[in-house]
Amino acid sequence: MTRKLAAGNWKMNGTSADLAEVETLLQNLGGVQTDVLICPPATLLHRMSEMASDSILATGGQTCDAKLSGAHTGDLSAEMLKDAGATYVILGHSERRDDHGETSEDIREKARAALASDLTAVVCLGESEAQRDAENTLDIIGGQLAGSIPDDVTADRLVVAYEPIWAIGTGRVPTLEQISEVHDFIRARLIRRFGETTGAQISILYGGSVKPTNASDIFAVPNVDGALVGGASLKAADFIQIINALDAA
Ligand code: PGA
Repeated sequence: MTRKLAAGNWKMNGTSADLAEVETLLQNLGGVQTDVLICPPATLLHRMSEMASDSILATGGQTCDAKLSGAHTGDLSAEMLKDAGATYVILGHSERRDDHGETSEDIREKARAALASDLTAVVCLGESEAQRDAENTLDIIGGQLAGSIPDDVTADRLVVAYEPIWAIGTGRVPTLEQISEVHDFIRARLIRRFGETTGAQISILYGGSVKPTNASDIFAVPNVDGALVGGASLKAADFIQIINALDAA
């Protein structure tokens, strides 16, 4: 059995005032069975973690450095995220791959650092529109999967997120068949690499324009164990609907 996870990625959004959304969310999580995560900007991580400490809401970072400490101005180590209350960290989001030139090898090193600090790594994979049009999607995903994930992961310390780049923040969503094809492929590759038990237990999230209106259909697709949600995680009223849809799936 995989764990179901509704994960919010606030990206570079949110200041103190937005913690009111977390307050609202916390008031609406009673009875929710799925795991729930928000990855706020690092400036809010500690406060959000304190607010969520007696709840099922987990918090996480949006990236971390591969090094544990040292002369790296502006960067944050996995240990620092952990110290601020995080239990997860998103790694290899396409915006990091694009904006910061992160390679799959970089992401694997960061994932090693995350595991060493006892954080669960949410490793993101996704093809561009040109790659999909050229029918290279599975090759790209397979390559990113092989390159970005360390060999010594366990199912409770790794989550994989499939996020087609062209679906992020665009309102465009792949067909359910397209989501199914990629998620089945990821599952098969995880089983091939990590074995039947571990490979079957790693949660695979879909991300890219998940909204209250499409969440239930997406969660009904086999091998979709949850979602990585950007825009719709910023408002508690939207995110709770997505969480409830996952809970009911
Ligand atoms: P979106 O972002 O839900 O706003 O499309 C998803 C993501 O980038 O994780």
